[in-house]
Amino acid sequence: MSIEELKQKFFEKYGEGRVNGYFAPGRVNLIGEHTDYNGGFVFPCALSFGNYLLIRKTDRKTFRFASLNMAFETEISVEDLNKPIGKEWVNYPIGVFAQFLKKGLKFEQGADLLFFGDVPAGAGLSSSAALEVVTGVAISDVYGFDLDRLEIVKMSQKAEHEFAGVMCGIMDQFASGMGKKDHAVYLNCDTLEYELVPVLLKGIKIVISNTNSPHKLDSGKYNERVAECHSAVKAIQPYKPINALGELSPEDFDLLSGKIADPTVRKRAKHVVTEIHRTNEAVECLKAGDIARFGVLMNGSHTSLKNDFEVTGFELDTMVEEAMKVEGVIGTRMTGGGFGGCTVSLVKDEAVDKFIDFVGTNYAKKTGLTPKFYVAEISDGGKKLF
Ligand code: GLA
Repeated sequence: MSIEELKQKFFEKYGEGRVNGYFAPGRVNLIGEHTDYNGGFVFPCALSFGNYLLIRKTDRKTFRFASLNMAFETEISVEDLNKPIGKEWVNYPIGVFAQFLKKGLKFEQGADLLFFGDVPAGAGLSSSAALEVVTGVAISDVYGFDLDRLEIVKMSQKAEHEFAGVMCGIMDQFASGMGKKDHAVYLNCDTLEYELVPVLLKGIKIVISNTNSPHKLDSGKYNERVAECHSAVKAIQPYKPINALGELSPEDFDLLSGKIADPTVRKRAKHVVTEIHRTNEAVECLKAGDIARFGVLMNGSHTSLKNDFEVTGFELDTMVEEAMKVEGVIGTRMTGGGFGGCTVSLVKDEAVDKFIDFVGTNYAKKTGLTPKFYVAEISDGGKKLF
């Protein structure tokens, strides 16, 4: 949908007049999965699709929320901006408003808000982070709060914890808020130090394959993994004073893994420690132009997420297995939280059509689902459009 069409929809809904527009992107993570809430490293990029928000302050004291993607609409007063409404989509923006209130920031006037998202929902490409970040960027600007971008990123993560009940790390909101065109964000999730690394892949495309098997991040499995990682830390602590698995080197882990009695918890920890190591190496490879090795590390990441972290499942594994059979595929892995959603693959330009055809046909045959493919465009983080 074009910006003009979006404006038209806003006018139809709320009447003509002045309006501001904002955008925040979804993300794809190249490598570094389930490491963020363990104080590890991640390497995501912001995408060209995301969430748009058109907003206008009004003279009323209430806030009207509507979306071109969702049927549910609501009008709520300032006092009610601190409680979730059932399991509705508005909890993401309301959750962000609530963070502003918590900071003691005041909304003297209400507003009309219209959202539109073009991130495939449930695909694990962070449609919810895009919704949160676009809300934070917009209200900070429209109400003149002028918050630091990193502050908005952290508030967006809190909104997800408190209003969606997902104890996520900071990767998605960070990528959506801080991403840069043609760069990936190499982020230390412990210190929040980051580096924007150019992703100039000559003759190679980043292909996202959507399994169309929705990832069920709120199903509790995600929080279960977070809890398992905490148990691993607890088991190690008597022997080494760590606060997070990210503090363990692979060598530390080899020495201490025997202290983790529960074999499942031990496997989870192994994934985290090895994935952080793979991520750091992958960034070095990218900088050195060693894309072949980058691909090997992506494949290793998938295997670890499959066998040790157990967040893949039949659809994601099938997508990866079929992708591996195509000549010209440099690396392929699941991306995001897992349990459905998308894979990310590096594919040579000349192999992209074959990839889509071959993987698409075989995946559909094996799963009975129709996949979707997108050639990723790496874009800027959240911004004001008009
Ligand atoms: C989801 C979470 C992120 C991160 C990934 C897995 O996308 O929101 O914080 O943990 O899963 O890497």
